[in-house]
Amino acid sequence: MRPLLRLRNVEARYGAFVALQHVSLIVPQGSVVALLGPNGVGKTTLLRTVSGMMSPSDGEITFDGIRIDNMPDHAIARLGLEHIPEGRGIFPTLTVRENLQMAAYTTEGMNGSIERVNQLFPVLQQRRDQIAGTLSGGEQQMLSLARSIITQPKLLMVDELSLGLAPRLVAQLFDTLEKIKRDGTTILLVEQYVRYALRLADIVVILHKGRVAFIGEPGELAHEGKLVEAYLGGSQAESATAEAEEQGGPRPRRRASGGATSGARPKRKPSAPRGSTRRSSPS
Ligand SMILES: Nc1ncnc2c1ncn2[C@@H]1O[C@H](COP(=O)(O)OP(=O)(O)O)[C@@H](O)[C@H]1O
Ligand SMILES: [Mg+2]
Repeated sequence: MRPLLRLRNVEARYGAFVALQHVSLIVPQGSVVALLGPNGVGKTTLLRTVSGMMSPSDGEITFDGIRIDNMPDHAIARLGLEHIPEGRGIFPTLTVRENLQMAAYTTEGMNGSIERVNQLFPVLQQRRDQIAGTLSGGEQQMLSLARSIITQPKLLMVDELSLGLAPRLVAQLFDTLEKIKRDGTTILLVEQYVRYALRLADIVVILHKGRVAFIGEPGELAHEGKLVEAYLGGSQAESATAEAEEQGGPRPRRRASGGATSGARPKRKPSAPRGSTRRSSPS
């Protein structure tokens, strides 16, 4: 499959702190790539760097054949790259309908996708006149997702949308992501629910201290017990290995190797606060 997103040797910094180092990966068109790893390994930083909320201090990022690592976030969004950041990117004081209209506003020919959003999120249609801030946590998450797919993005990047959700709602969220995948949307998913993520993903990337520690298919993780344990830790490791064993036959091991750190370069712009969105953002 054609690479939709490609990172080559990407480095990202917060001041002197190097949060991503020599990160190279490909997100093929039509695939779901799960980006996994415990807290603090750089998953959020990677998504921010791709969507233009941060600029990489080194390396190249191409999206749909276009170099984007020097482009401002709004220009990247216009290419069809949608990022749901950590936290909820909704306007809490507007109604559900207004939230969706704001999202649709930036793109033309949205009628088809509004219909699709209504199919995917019947609860939002029922609650279209409710103030978004009064929705339950799960419904607010669904609204973030609905806002993102209304623009019919080529690539949807989702950062821990399941955070704080009851287990039943996590299952529902993943059902919806599965449908979005079947619609043909390419997804780069950051997720702590490893079991669900591996079921949805075609490719798994494990980050460890800002570097790529593993890239492969979910089934390959069955043979990576130690690696999974080391890089995903305790309960995540168990569920990852169990899930991989369900899926996997024997496959060759493929591990990325890291290189040396390159020279310090200043960050070009500060990162946005957590929970902010790039487009028609609640403030
Ligand atoms: N705004 C920031 N300023 C300084 N350091 C940060 C900032 N955001 C994240 N970091 C650091 O960068 C590293 C990666 O963070 P992050 O990308 O949020 O990890 P993850 O999403 O995997 O939990 C962590 O060590 C974190 O403390
Ligand atoms: Mg994060």
